[in-house]
Amino acid sequence: MEAASNSGPWGLAGRRAVVAGALGGIGQVIAAAFREAGAHVLLTDLTDASAAVEAVNAAGFDPRMYAACDLTSEDEVRALCDRAAEAFGGLPDIVCVHAGVVGSHPVVGYPIEAFDELMRVNLRGSFLLASEAARRWLAVEAPGTLVFTTSWVQDVPWPDIGPYSASKAAVRSLMRTFARELAPRGIRSNAVAPGIVGVGMARRQWDTDPAYRSRAQRAIPLGRLQTPESVADAVLFLASPLSAYMTGATLLVDGGASLYPMDE
Ligand SMILES: NC(=O)c1ccc[n+]([C@@H]2O[C@H](COP(=O)([O-])OP(=O)(O)OC[C@H]3O[C@@H](n4cnc5c(N)ncnc54)[C@H](O)[C@@H]3O)[C@@H](O)[C@H]2O)c1
Repeated sequence: MEAASNSGPWGLAGRRAVVAGALGGIGQVIAAAFREAGAHVLLTDLTDASAAVEAVNAAGFDPRMYAACDLTSEDEVRALCDRAAEAFGGLPDIVCVHAGVVGSHPVVGYPIEAFDELMRVNLRGSFLLASEAARRWLAVEAPGTLVFTTSWVQDVPWPDIGPYSASKAAVRSLMRTFARELAPRGIRSNAVAPGIVGVGMARRQWDTDPAYRSRAQRAIPLGRLQTPESVADAVLFLASPLSAYMTGATLLVDGGASLYPMDE
């Protein structure tokens, strides 16, 4: 591994971070922010390594620091963790459980296959990655840090994404259980809950669904779509020594979206 180039304000220079969902709209920015902070980053996402080369190169990463993994597969998650240990020359210090999917259908008539697939990725996938990472930290008594990504809609019903909201509420609950069970062993577990971000899944819906767009335009007290950099700042904070006394916390970074009913 090359030496860390700078330390920045975060105290993350030389730390080793796995970012899941690293090819997504927000994940790319999180991975870049860790690199800027001087951390070593292993990117992972669904895309095959050969198909991801261009995107990984374009993002300024060495393609050897990308590993494909379907987080819903136990075997693939184990292989990912092996790969991280090999690439870093040791266990990661930080695992960002960030991948996720959304589906948009009214709650009545929501297709059950879409419901099951969403829960597989958001809940089972998050659980598999976090528990495999934690199992390895426990085995060598390493003080790792988990950072989950939930959403402001974990607490606020937003039309047509009921199962997504429920999956994020469940991830928040899991995050707190990891925190509760593992704090005595020095492992921290926290979550970032973003609002309506101008890239990734919300952007796709904003661009293609006029009803969503008009609702979303009224939903953000700060009056503008969220930047992915603001999510990355929160993730880096929770990964860093600056949050050393935080575990089991959800950092809500949503421009105030959760403050008022958005349909009025
Ligand atoms: N965009 C927003 O407004 C917003 C708001 C709140 C929370 N979030 C959360 O932020 C995270 C990233 O969202 P985004 O907006 O960048 O969406 P995105 O679709 O651009 O990125 C999600 C990434 O997860 C990956 N992924 C999906 N299924 C996977 C699987 N089975 N295994 C491994 N990777 C898988 C996708 O390939 C994709 O690259 C998600 O957890 C999402 O729920 C997004």
